Amino acid sequence: MKMLNGKALALAGVGIATLLAGCEAPPPEVVQNGYRGLAMQTNYNTDRLQASLDANVPPEPIPAAAPGGPKAKDLYKNVQVLGELTVAEFNRIMVAMTNWVAPEQGCYYCHVNEGFEYDGIYTKVVARRMIQMTQTTNANWQDHVADTGVTCYTCHRGQPVPEYVWTSDPGPGQPSMIAPTGQNVASKSVAYASLPYDPFTPYLLQDNDIRVIGQTVLPQGNRSSIKQAEWTYGLMMHMSSSLGVNCTYCHNSRSFYSWDQSAPPRTAAWYAIRHVREMNNDYVVPLSEIIPASRKGPLGDVYKIYCTTCHQGAYKPLYGAKMLKDYPSLAQPLPEGGLEAVKAAKEGVVEAPSTQAKAEPMEAPAPAPAKAQPAQEAAAPPAESAPEAEPAAAAPAQPAPAEPAAPAASSGPQLRYPPPSMMQYPPAPLQYPPAPAPR
Ligand code: HEC
Ligand code: HEC
Ligand code: HEC
Ligand code: HEC
Repeated sequence: MKMLNGKALALAGVGIATLLAGCEAPPPEVVQNGYRGLAMQTNYNTDRLQASLDANVPPEPIPAAAPGGPKAKDLYKNVQVLGELTVAEFNRIMVAMTNWVAPEQGCYYCHVNEGFEYDGIYTKVVARRMIQMTQTTNANWQDHVADTGVTCYTCHRGQPVPEYVWTSDPGPGQPSMIAPTGQNVASKSVAYASLPYDPFTPYLLQDNDIRVIGQTVLPQGNRSSIKQAEWTYGLMMHMSSSLGVNCTYCHNSRSFYSWDQSAPPRTAAWYAIRHVREMNNDYVVPLSEIIPASRKGPLGDVYKIYCTTCHQGAYKPLYGAKMLKDYPSLAQPLPEGGLEAVKAAKEGVVEAPSTQAKAEPMEAPAPAPAKAQPAQEAAAPPAESAPEAEPAAAAPAQPAPAEPAAPAASSGPQLRYPPPSMMQYPPAPLQYPPAPAPR
């Protein structure tokens, strides 16, 4: 009996060791995405990658509309957003939206017997706002979505409510007399870590500091709370699992906070967090009034956006498929003159029309304390300097930052960027900024 137990134990030991070694069949592939020797790499399972690739194929584009013809605003009665399109392009977009959002329900998911112009059905009013959200995303957030951009399909994938959304979570039942702490349960939202299961309200709705590291050398100076640290790790777990990448896809694990040593995707992620906040606060939450209770979470708030809503396990949604290029009407708020004016402006024929009307200046990025000194200027490559950029320089009207051209993406994570230059190492000497004012 004793021996058996010993054997069983030994077997269990081997099993655990196998698990710890991450032995899966087939063995994971490793793709390097940072400087050699720093373990900045992404591991992935080839089988699961194939399944994910298969699940993330965009639909065929609808054939282009015939050019010319009357404008939608001249024919229809109540077009507030797409009126500058030609009637042919307008109808093409209606068909595309139906395929992307309500393929089973059809046009009547958003239109009723009172007529196509009737606004008394909430789905139509929501859809109009969604069109604006999509246009603003593609015009103003290219630091995140690049020219790949998004369409309704990026989130909806043929369903009226996207599959991956979040709401405030009342959490699991707690024993009586214990105030709910919102943590210490293995929660799906944070990749089954026992971290606070709602890191989204503080970070993807509110604007709290995403920070663990203190801003001074001595620990007394660290004003980041334990709660904040746990939220931060919770958010990071979500970001990693929704993009299907390791922490080292963005960070060099020798210093999680240092921007100098981060890989370029961290810059995109910094913008992504601000982008998602804006979508939730400016578009989704204000729709609460008209969205019915059946479409809300247990605490009565609407379904909101997080990284998984678009990424769904891929480092770029739909593995970087460029759907937007076939639907130029969603690429920006439509100026007077419609797509013809956009095209002319691009070709430099006329002054750029004010497609940026809805642009809001970017908030100033969180300063990276150790970098505030000028000693850095020689080293910072363009992509890395983005988070330090002045708010004005990051304004959406600017062309996308000069990033190294990424190779065409077709299959899974690859080496997207040249490794950071040796010039960045060693990092800048430690700085001693003044201690933050006491609270
Ligand atoms: C996901 C919601 C949605 C679906 C599905 C949809 N539409 Fe629309 N439709 C809208 C919105 C939003 C507007 C208003 C656009 C604007 O304000 O610029 C609109 C406006 C219209 C108008 C203009 C009516 C007027 O006089 O103002 C027509 C015509 C129209 N849609 C036809 C269709 C057809 C045909 C289909 C099916 C192929 C369809 N729609 C499917 C959301 C939808
Ligand atoms: C960034 C992700 C995202 C994009 C892009 C997006 N949506 Fe949505 N959509 C959502 C979320 C989240 C909800 C649920 C919250 C809500 O109802 O406001 C939603 C809800 C809706 C609803 C209400 C469905 C229902 O049954 O309650 C409609 C209609 C809709 N979207 C249409 C569109 C259209 C049309 C587009 C493209 C022009 C679009 N959406 C683009 C995220 C997105
Ligand atoms: C997709 C890129 C990305 C991935 C993957 C990622 N992070 Fe982050 N991380 C960021 C960004 C961006 C910030 C800064 C956020 C901000 O300031 O708004 C950050 C901040 C942090 C911080 C706070 C540093 C400070 O200044 O105090 C820690 C700690 C951290 N990440 C740990 C992790 C861990 C652990 C993982 C893996 C579970 C991870 N990150 C995965 C992008 C990423
Ligand atoms: C509205 C849809 C949408 C949402 C929501 C979204 N992303 Fe993205 N993201 C994109 C698109 C589209 C791209 C592809 C851009 C490109 O081709 O370079 C992208 C690219 C990225 C990249 C660059 C990847 C690379 O290898 O270059 C990072 C990092 C990233 N997103 C992080 C995030 C994080 C973190 C969140 C949540 C805070 C998030 N995204 C939420 C649409 C989205």
